[in-house]
This record gives sequence, structure tokens and C-alpha cells, in this order.
Amino acid sequence: CGIIARIGHGNAAETLLSGLENLEYRGYDSAGIAVQNGSGVKIHKCSGEVSDLKSSLESRPHGNMGIGHTRWSTHGPPTDENAHPHTDTAGDVAVVHNGVIDNYDELRSELQAKGHEFESETDTEVIPHLIDDYREETGDSETAVRRAVETLEGSYAIAAIVDGEEAVYAARKGSPLVLGLDEEEWFLASDVPAFLDYTDEVIYLEDGDLVVLEPDSYQITDLGGETVERSTDTVDWDPEDAGKGEYDHYMLKEINSQPTTLANTIEGRVQDGDVVFEDLPEGTFADVETVQFVACGTSYHAAMYADQLLRSAGIRTDVVRASEYDSMSGPVDENTLVVAVTQSGETADTLDAVRTASANGARSLAVTNVVGSTAARETDDAVYIRAGPEVGVAATKTFSSQAVTLALLSQQLAADVPDVSPPEDSDAMLESLDALPGHLETVLENSNAESLASDLIDSQSFFFIGNGLGHPVALEGALKFKEITYEHAEGFASGELKHGPLALVTPETPVFAVATGSDSKTKTNAIEAQTRGAPIVAVSPDDNPLVDVAEDHLTIPDTHPVWAGLLANVQLQLLSYYAADELGRSIDKPRNLAKSVTVE
Ligand code: G6P
Repeated sequence: CGIIARIGHGNAAETLLSGLENLEYRGYDSAGIAVQNGSGVKIHKCSGEVSDLKSSLESRPHGNMGIGHTRWSTHGPPTDENAHPHTDTAGDVAVVHNGVIDNYDELRSELQAKGHEFESETDTEVIPHLIDDYREETGDSETAVRRAVETLEGSYAIAAIVDGEEAVYAARKGSPLVLGLDEEEWFLASDVPAFLDYTDEVIYLEDGDLVVLEPDSYQITDLGGETVERSTDTVDWDPEDAGKGEYDHYMLKEINSQPTTLANTIEGRVQDGDVVFEDLPEGTFADVETVQFVACGTSYHAAMYADQLLRSAGIRTDVVRASEYDSMSGPVDENTLVVAVTQSGETADTLDAVRTASANGARSLAVTNVVGSTAARETDDAVYIRAGPEVGVAATKTFSSQAVTLALLSQQLAADVPDVSPPEDSDAMLESLDALPGHLETVLENSNAESLASDLIDSQSFFFIGNGLGHPVALEGALKFKEITYEHAEGFASGELKHGPLALVTPETPVFAVATGSDSKTKTNAIEAQTRGAPIVAVSPDDNPLVDVAEDHLTIPDTHPVWAGLLANVQLQLLSYYAADELGRSIDKPRNLAKSVTVE
């Protein structure tokens, strides 16, 4: 979910609505705003996207302050009643919330016993009732909010307004909240793009912070009421980066931006043949004995890529799905480096895994796109992938930037970790990196993915295979395809196809075989599928032997095998995009998904 609050001079509604549009990547199944204009708190909310909310408003409600929310359902389906903001029984206190309240059931019963009436199935609704209850007791809204957040168990970023008070109250624990400071107005939001059109001056709030915004002042205190000082940062994202530009979809814009974003990722990080990360001087990892990657979704596939690179350098490494960390992590100690790979830096499963590892004594590193994100702040060190804001829910440019950042990081680890040395062809790999943005341009300019997607779109299922570094690419290709086309797609290690999935193979199941030079088994396994009638699409350089037997070909330029997988992945991104476009899917906001999942 995404939340926003605004207070200042002039009308708040338009700012709240445009802010919510920029937060829709966090959820888009219902939306709402509450504004305060001296004649009560006015709520407007509905199921559907922010555009539905906008068109349901005959005119913009009047008021200089307000809060807003765009939802990804956790408790209760996406109905008008379950949309935020929620209020207390009298409608005097309105609250928006991102996170999960674990003790809501018991709080709800207690409040109901006191006469509070509930209208929704959400966990959030206990918050305004609780604030109202404490207001009755203490007569003061700030104290009431403080008491309420002390009572809540779970995770939250909340913003509240109270009838007749020119103030926004907000607090965070476990869910992100950023304060935006403009000359004329203050903002609070789950993420910076919500207010980037107005200001780039931000304060990243921390867990336990409670904020009171008034039209001409703001105050941050801890839960004990003591004032806390938080530093101001300037965000270097350009609002232009966050727009759709000439493209029909953010996803296509983001796919096409990769030559530039990747150049940005690489800039300054290879100097005189050595990898240089500004904040990680040579020798930083001299104590590391084992590495453990934790990640989810697309980031997990980028982590798999890095895991293989470290393995080939002789480093003991593992990659664990963050949501399975408790059962799969194995022992860690101070010589274990846990690397959280997370675009947003806010994925609850990943944060939870890295917190567990840290509590058990491991050292932690975040590889993330978002400066100031929770992952960046909570880990011992952070490396940024520098891909710029990504709005399309399906991750594209950030996968490429993650994989390159991680490949460079694996070089530094191989150089730092005792008794290990970088693989023999490391120099060649680093030398060929400069050419990667140009190769990406070649793929983007010449891809036949659009016509291929149109030829194959009526198929029953879509399989993606690859081995070695082609394996994570195959998994990522299938994930992208299912996310945005809603068609059945699966990715396999090439050699596994014959151990079960082959039973599904028919002439109606094209097999996309990623063959980038670091693999040996893909051709044989692709032919086994072809023998059962499946059309084969080689995703490979022209000179790969698979091309001679495949029905179709998505070509990539010749390059080092470590980078070839990324080029193949871009072809598969285009394939998914055009297939989804042909099917008329909601490409930037696929059903049931959210870009940043801040609940476990
Ligand atoms: C969600 C998104 C995926 C993303 C995953 C991890 O499930 O829909 O696209 O890969 O979260 O996100 P992160 O921000 O941690 O990389």
C-alpha cells in the first residue's frame, strides 16, 4: 500500500491524488483521500484505481490538508468499505495505514465492547477508533496518537487527521515513511515519487518516530515525547525519470532506458581494471568466509546469478528465498555476509530474513535501488544499483542493474576473501562491460520479439529453459511472462525438463531456450522437447549451435558469457511486453500484484 499526507496553504486534494498515482506501484485495488476544511473531515474512497477515484469526484474537495491511500489488500477484499481512509464511529479521526496490525482482533473486540462501531473488515480500522478512545481519555490528539501506536503490534506507517485540528499526525514502525519539505507545504509519503514534483528535500523517518505537521512547522519526537533530530537529504531523482514519456507503458519505457540506466550503474565502478565501490574500500570483505543471498521475485533471480559467479570464484555461497529464510538459512556467524538484494529496499520478507541473520551475528549488505530505504538503513553497508525510479510493477531495468552490480561485487569479494582469487577470465569480463550498454541498444533496435509474440500468443503454455547462468534468466523470463500476460509460463533448468515437465510439452507449448555460451545442456534438452513437437525459440548469439535446429531465434550480440544472459533477458522482457500488449493486459499494473510488498 502507499500513503500520502499533505498540509500547507492552498488546496490539498489535487496534490494528494497525483501523489497517489505515483504510489500506485505499491497497490492499486482501491484508493481514497480525506480532506479537512473547517467543516469536518470529508472522505472520498472507492474500490479500483486512483483514476476511478478521480472520476468519481465531481469536483476536487476543498481543504488545505489531507491524507490519501492506495491499497493492496491484505485483510478484507478490495471493496469500497475496505478502502482507506478509515474513521472512528463519529467520523472525527481519519487514518491511512500501510502495514499489518497483528493484534487487531483483540483490539477490535475491546473497542466494540466500549461501543465503537466498525464498518470494514480491515485491520486498519482499529487505529482511528483507538485514537478516538485515547482522545476521550486524554483530551489531546498527539498524546492519543502516541498511546495508540504504543498499543499497536505489527508494522505500520500511519497518517491521521482530526476534525477541527490543523495538523497531520504520523508514525512509523516497520513500514517506510518519508517527510518532504517544500517552502509552502509539507508532505509525508511511503516513497519519494509521491511528492517529487514539488520537492526533493526529504527526511527519512525511522522506526519509533512520531511526526506532527502543522501548516508552518513540523516536529519529530520519539515515543517518549523527546524531540529527535533527523538530517535532511536531497534526492537526486529527476521528476522526468518518473514519467511515462513518449511510451504507452512505463514498462516499455523502462526496458528501453536500459542502455542509459546500465551506463549509470557501471559509471566509475571499474577503474584501471579494478572494481571500485565508493563506500567499500579494498579489503572490506577480508573477514568474509561465506556469503548468503536473500531476495524475492526478480531480485531472487539476480541473486541466483551472483551466487553462481561467486561459486565459480571458489567462495562458499548460498541463495535463499527470503520468505523461506527461517527454514532454509542454515547457521551464520560473524564471518557470514548476508546480502539482501531488493530493488525497493522495503520487501517485508527480505527485511525479515536479513534481520534474523543479523540477530544471529551475520554481517549484512543491502544491494538496492532506493537510497534511504529500510534495507539500506538497517544493514551494515549498502550498495546502490543506480537504475533510477522504476514504476512498472514488473521489474525490468532494475534486474539488469542488479545483476551487473552483483557481478562487480562478486569480483570484489573474490579479490578480498582470503585464499580465493577472481576467475581467470575476470579481466576479459570487466573489459567487455563497457560495451554492454551498446549491445543493449542493438538488441532494443533490432528485436523481432513483437512479431514472435504475435505468432505464438495463442499457445497453451510457455516454457523457458536455460542452464548455468542461463538458468536464472529462464526463471526470470517465465516470471515476467506470467506476471503481465496471465498466461501459464514456467522456467526450468534445461536438464530438469526431462524429469517431469516434459509431460506437459506438446506442439502448443513453445520452449524458449536461453543459450548464451556458459551452458552446455540446453541444446540437447531443447531437442528433446522439439522431438515431442514443441517449437523451439533460441535466445542466443547467432553462432550458437542451437540456432541451426530452432524454429525461431531471438538474437543477441556476441559478448562475454556473464553479460550475454542480461542481453537474452532483455529479449525476453520485450517478448513478455508485446505478448501482454497483444492480449490487452494491464501491463504496468497487473492484477493481484504490487511492486513493493511490505507485508509478509
Ligand atoms: C514483488 C514484486 C516483484 C519483486 C519482488 C521483490 O513481489 O511484484 O516484481 O521482484 O516484490 O521486490 P524487491 O523490491 O525486494 O526487489
